[in-house]
Amino acid sequence: MVGKDENTYDVQEIRRDFPILERQVNGHPLVYLDSAASAQKPRAVIESQREYLSHFHSNIHRGAHALATQATDAFEGARETVRNHFNASKTSEIVFTSGATDSINLVASTWGRSNLTSDSIILLTRLEHHSNIVPWQILANEIGCKIEVVDVLPDGSLDQINFEKKLALKPKLVCFSHVSNTLGTINDVKYYTELAHKVGSCVLIDGSQAAPHCLVDFQDLDCDFYACSGHKMYGPTGIGILYGKQELFESMPPWRGGGEMISSVSFEDPTTFNIPPYKFEAGTPNISGAIGLGHAISWMNSVGVEKIAAHERALTEYAHKKLLAIEGLKIYGTADHKAGVVSFLIDGTHPADLGTLLDQLGIAVRTGSHCTEPLMKWLGVSGTVRASFAAYTSFEEIDALVAGLERAVKMLR
Ligand code: ALA
Repeated sequence: MVGKDENTYDVQEIRRDFPILERQVNGHPLVYLDSAASAQKPRAVIESQREYLSHFHSNIHRGAHALATQATDAFEGARETVRNHFNASKTSEIVFTSGATDSINLVASTWGRSNLTSDSIILLTRLEHHSNIVPWQILANEIGCKIEVVDVLPDGSLDQINFEKKLALKPKLVCFSHVSNTLGTINDVKYYTELAHKVGSCVLIDGSQAAPHCLVDFQDLDCDFYACSGHKMYGPTGIGILYGKQELFESMPPWRGGGEMISSVSFEDPTTFNIPPYKFEAGTPNISGAIGLGHAISWMNSVGVEKIAAHERALTEYAHKKLLAIEGLKIYGTADHKAGVVSFLIDGTHPADLGTLLDQLGIAVRTGSHCTEPLMKWLGVSGTVRASFAAYTSFEEIDALVAGLERAVKMLR
């Protein structure tokens, strides 16, 4: 079925770059439809880890030897790759973290603690992943400020009227996801950032599900902070990015103490801190992870992010059409602008049972609340089955999902 794409996208060639896709699971070829949880890794990323660990592993920024120089160059080279990919104006605006969750917690613990007071409002949306809810709840409990929540429309898009109404409360901080991990909705984050800035709010975007699927331009978005995870972008786990505007990073206090984040340490005089981004990178960072992420980004660009996005749009449309042919199947999240995430339920079946039966056929999906319990409550369900796509997903895999579901439904009903 290659050729369903209108662009010149050869998914079979892409798949050959991912060794894991050659394996069998439970006696069947692996059908990996859980890329929103974590994407698989191309050879270039796998090889980068082997190369670094075999040939130039060392600590960075501090050793007076050749390996330290090589590792430092590779680590800082990865930061430049990230800067260039996301069009940040300076590498000092790119902090390496352990993932999007860590990035958001960093902002909550530093910018949040030093800028919010008991009369502040933090504006969130009902679409958010727990990672973009709980750090704010912990902070709000600590300082006694208030959280307001923007509603969602039945198709899974943000309620713009409600958003504007909540902005009239003049929140100090507005946080929203670029793409919903559960419904796949692509939010018009540039527009929402503009609206929030008009009332003087600071804007944080959770880009975990957008960065693997579309081109993101930090300067064009004009957001204050942007968080994303490397492992969803074909990179290793344990590495993430926090983008922040230079003046914000400069004004923020440090978070974790130790290692490279200091300028000078003294018992007699005040300890002073390094400049961004190092101020926020205490301790030995995830050197191999950063190098791997740099290679993952280069891999995405070698394929073409726009091409990947077009392929995933075609897959999503195809999946919607095929899945809706199953009697009693309901899709959650039908907004016009959607990334490759399809959440659904089938009458008379439980998502966990469907997930188990699909797994027996080698088909990997995620079931449950997808770390979005407030959204599930609003949808009136306890969980869904979620199939999510990536650059290597084929149309045949969607056919396999549909056939697997038909078989599972016959067994469960
Ligand atoms: N946040 C990841 C997901 O949505 C784990 O599956």
